[in-house]
Amino acid sequence: MSLAQDTIVWNNRYILGIPVLDKQHRHMVDIANELFAACIESPDIVSNHFLENASIAIARMNYYFIKEEKLMAILYYQGYLHHKREHENFMGEALKQSEELKFNKKIIPRSFVYFFRDWLLSHITVSDKVLANYILEMRQSGRLRQLLEVRQEGALLTA
Ligand SMILES: [Fe+2]
Ligand SMILES: [Fe+2]
Repeated sequence: MSLAQDTIVWNNRYILGIPVLDKQHRHMVDIANELFAACIESPDIVSNHFLENASIAIARMNYYFIKEEKLMAILYYQGYLHHKREHENFMGEALKQSEELKFNKKIIPRSFVYFFRDWLLSHITVSDKVLANYILEMRQSGRLRQLLEVRQEGALLTA
C-alpha cells in the first residue's frame, strides 16, 4: 500500500446528517489528505514543508474543535466533557508528535499522517456520530427549534 492509496476517500459513512458538522468534517478530511500529499515524496524524512503543513493542520483542527464544542455547550449535550476531552487528547498527542518531528525523534511523517487519519475517521464515526444523533433527536422532538429560538443561535446549525 502506498501513501497515495491511503488518502481518505469521502464516504457516506462519514455523513452524520447535521450539515454544519458534515461540512466541518469534509474540511478535516481535506486537511488529512493535504498532509498525505505533503509527505508523499519523502514519507520517512522530515522536511520544512511537512512541518509547516503539520502545524497548519493542527491549528485548523483546533479551530473546528472549538466550533463543535461551542455547539455542544449551547445544546446542553451531556457528553460535552467527555467529547471535549477526546479533542484535547488528540491535540495533546498531535502537538507532542509534531515536536518530535521537529527534533527528529522517533517519529516520521508517515506515522504522523496515519495517526491523524485514523483518529479523525474513528472520531467522526463514533463520538461525533453520537453527538449528531443527539441533535437529530432534538430536532425531531422540536426541542432544537425551541432552544435555538430562545438562544438566537440558529446560525450555528446552518452550514
Ligand atoms: Fe467533529
Ligand atoms: Fe468531535
